[in-house]
Amino acid sequence: MRTIDPMQIATKDLHQFMLGAVAPRPIAFASTISADGVPNLAPYSFFNAFSSNPPILIFSSNRRVENNTTKDTLQNVKETGEVVIHAVSYAMARQMALCSIEYDATVDEFAKAGFTPLPSERVRPFRVAESPVHMECVVDDIIPLGDKGGAGNLIVCRMVLMHISEEVLTPSGRIDPQKIDLIGRMGRFYYARASGDAIFEVVQKVNEIGVGFDALPRSARHSSVLTGSELARIAALRQLPSREEALADPAVAEVVRQCNTLADLHLRVRQALEREQVDWAARLVMAGEALGSTP
Ligand SMILES: Cc1cc2nc3c(=O)[nH]c(=O)nc-3n(C[C@H](O)[C@H](O)[C@H](O)COP(=O)(O)O)c2cc1C
Repeated sequence: MRTIDPMQIATKDLHQFMLGAVAPRPIAFASTISADGVPNLAPYSFFNAFSSNPPILIFSSNRRVENNTTKDTLQNVKETGEVVIHAVSYAMARQMALCSIEYDATVDEFAKAGFTPLPSERVRPFRVAESPVHMECVVDDIIPLGDKGGAGNLIVCRMVLMHISEEVLTPSGRIDPQKIDLIGRMGRFYYARASGDAIFEVVQKVNEIGVGFDALPRSARHSSVLTGSELARIAALRQLPSREEALADPAVAEVVRQCNTLADLHLRVRQALEREQVDWAARLVMAGEALGSTP
């Protein structure tokens, strides 16, 4: 592996390694307004939600690496203490990117990027009509992380009102990930689009205590066939049969009899998992001890 000591590498290169690795990042499309009323829009991907009660979102406006200057958004939130954070859907990507251009503080990026301003209800900055989610926020704190180029300024935002487009909701009123069609920022100029096959479900209830990998038989943990992801589905079960219990099922015993090797049996386990027959897969895995631990 390549090992990097942050003290021994140029900040611009470290920045790229960090951004390539911490990805895809959600994008806060931040609308602010200066004390003298100039609207401002800018994307910020050092961003996330950190608390639901109180509802806290944090993004970081960094000092520029090249010349250690700060950005308009930071200045505006210092002046007014308010921001509207928007979700960024795929349809907005190009216009959003226009707002990352370093326009002068007197320039209104709504006009430059062709977005439609909508009045907010609880704060002064405008909302972006084209975004599916608008979060009106007051700024609780601004935490500088340093004074050199590349240093972040954490802008701690408390959401006071949220607006969600009906168009991205499921019939039961939750956000549908396919309909909201969000994008995330990756390293350099790469983005990820969260839709279609890129979205998948891993249902893991936190209060259902799974047996864990260490409860799987050695023959499974050292399988030349089954992957960590496949074994994890069995490790998530709340209990496993013993080898004797598994083999007591005539259907299991028959499969074991048909398989010449442990690898053959593990291929059958894979097929069972593909058919979502996780309990059956678990019985085959436990019975696999009967074929020995060598694949
Ligand atoms: C998708 C995307 C994400 C960005 N994320 C950040 C970020 O997290 N922090 C930051 O300081 N700049 C970030 N930038 C760069 C700013 O958007 C850019 O410097 C912009 O001109 C700042 O605008 P402002 O001066 O109006 O605040 C990002 C740019 C893009 C396109």
